[in-house]
Amino acid sequence: MNVPAAPAEPVAVVLLGASGDLARKKIVPALFALFSQGLLPASFRLYGFARSAHTDAAFRALLAEHLTCRAGTPGDCAARARSFLDHCFYCSGAYDSPDAYLDLFQIMNDRDPAPGANRLFYLATPPSVFGPAARALGDAGLVQCGTSRPWSRIVLEKPFGRDRESFDRLARDTARVFREEQTYRIDHYLGKEAVQNLMALRFANRLFEPVWNRTAVESVRIEWREDIGIEGRGGYYDRYGIVRDVMQNHLLQVLALIAMDRPVGPGAAAVSRAKLDVLRRIPPPGPDALRLGQYAAADFQGRTRLGYREETGVPPDSRTPTYAELVLTIENERWRGVPFRMIAGKALDRKLTEVRIRFKPVSADLFAPAGSPPPNELVARIQPDESLRLSIVSKKPGFGLDLAETALDLRYRSVFPADVPDAYERLLLDVMNGDKSLFPHADELAAAWDIFTPALREIEDRRREPFLYPFGADAP
Ligand SMILES: NC(=O)c1ccc[n+]([C@@H]2O[C@H](COP(=O)([O-])OP(=O)(O)OC[C@H]3O[C@@H](n4cnc5c(N)ncnc54)[C@H](OP(=O)(O)O)[C@@H]3O)[C@@H](O)[C@H]2O)c1
Repeated sequence: MNVPAAPAEPVAVVLLGASGDLARKKIVPALFALFSQGLLPASFRLYGFARSAHTDAAFRALLAEHLTCRAGTPGDCAARARSFLDHCFYCSGAYDSPDAYLDLFQIMNDRDPAPGANRLFYLATPPSVFGPAARALGDAGLVQCGTSRPWSRIVLEKPFGRDRESFDRLARDTARVFREEQTYRIDHYLGKEAVQNLMALRFANRLFEPVWNRTAVESVRIEWREDIGIEGRGGYYDRYGIVRDVMQNHLLQVLALIAMDRPVGPGAAAVSRAKLDVLRRIPPPGPDALRLGQYAAADFQGRTRLGYREETGVPPDSRTPTYAELVLTIENERWRGVPFRMIAGKALDRKLTEVRIRFKPVSADLFAPAGSPPPNELVARIQPDESLRLSIVSKKPGFGLDLAETALDLRYRSVFPADVPDAYERLLLDVMNGDKSLFPHADELAAAWDIFTPALREIEDRRREPFLYPFGADAP
């Protein structure tokens, strides 16, 4: 595997919201995995910051619950975890208080073996904290200037607003302290191997580009399914719903990678420009173009499951959708007239994310007695079991000319048996190395909100009722 180098310079990671789920279950385990692979500088330090009061020891005990070593990793896992935790410290305080950050600064000065380390501020907090925290960090003098060394960078987690207006407000608030080059917005889908492979598939193979357009492609379908409900996140979910939680960010980013023109060169800026060109050519769908559903109680996989409205933190008359389906179009020469169908649903029959590109059928005249050959399909599965499958029509062995649908099937895990890095590992390392290729630019997010904001606003103003589907449905 081509592994990026460990950052050469010392890095201090300041993790705001360190007491939360995301921090403990995703970010810190990813940092531990990087540490285990020797991909963090020896002088690396993690400073947890949140309002909850903890000592360093209590904080380390919280983190320890979620540190695991990958099967087959050589060495003593417990010893490695202890050594990692020795690099972790904690400071409690209010997110909007410069004084609290001065206390943190003092701790950093006392603990840091490498004064003048680069600083990575990771905001694993609700978005309401982003602006006040950025301002207070700036006021306390913790943010080192722009792109020169030592650098300071900020990492933000979705949701990036609820609509175009609130996104602009968020972006403005953080931009007062961190410039766009210093701002990394995580869309963890872009860190997934199979999503990154879309670029390689399209632009590292001669085969696909000539047929990657409306002349040859009949339709594109981008589908996201989960077989779980909202898992106790009612307070968050009910404010956002599936369109904001999945479509406006993850699926639209996948669509942009599928539909964009070849970037004019390598690097983040060129890829971002190519994606932006596509996003700006997607007309906002009307409210009636969106089919919206919500899961209802049902027995699934041997258990009785709650309906969405019975979940903790969800009002009993909630109209927030947990399923959405719509067709987008792209008004450019390459894609005009090709439907891009997006489907996303929670509490469905299985977990799956895939892109299905269906090509136009060939003329049937040569094969008239055998019937029309079925159209080719290219299916890129993003999760689970990353794979690429190209269906092709072949002649059945034997007399006559009977046709059969067959497939070229590439399963990542068999071709590349080495561990596929977790998306957060890859993205954290990219932030430390200053590589923004897998992070959406503010302009992309603004364009993405422009697509969905008008329909969402109208649907919510009308309090449109979603249809109900049973937990575990295959096709709501
Ligand atoms: N969990 C995930 O897998 C996931 C995935 C993608 C995105 N996200 C997003 O990432 C952010 C963090 O996720 P999370 O699951 O860790 O959330 P969380 O547990 O609700 O929040 C993280 C921490 O932020 C502080 N906090 C919570 N509510 C606050 C409020 N209203 N004002 C100020 N501070 C508050 C709490 O720490 P203190 O009280 O100790 O300060 C909490 O431990 C959320 O915006 C979430 O939507 C989460």
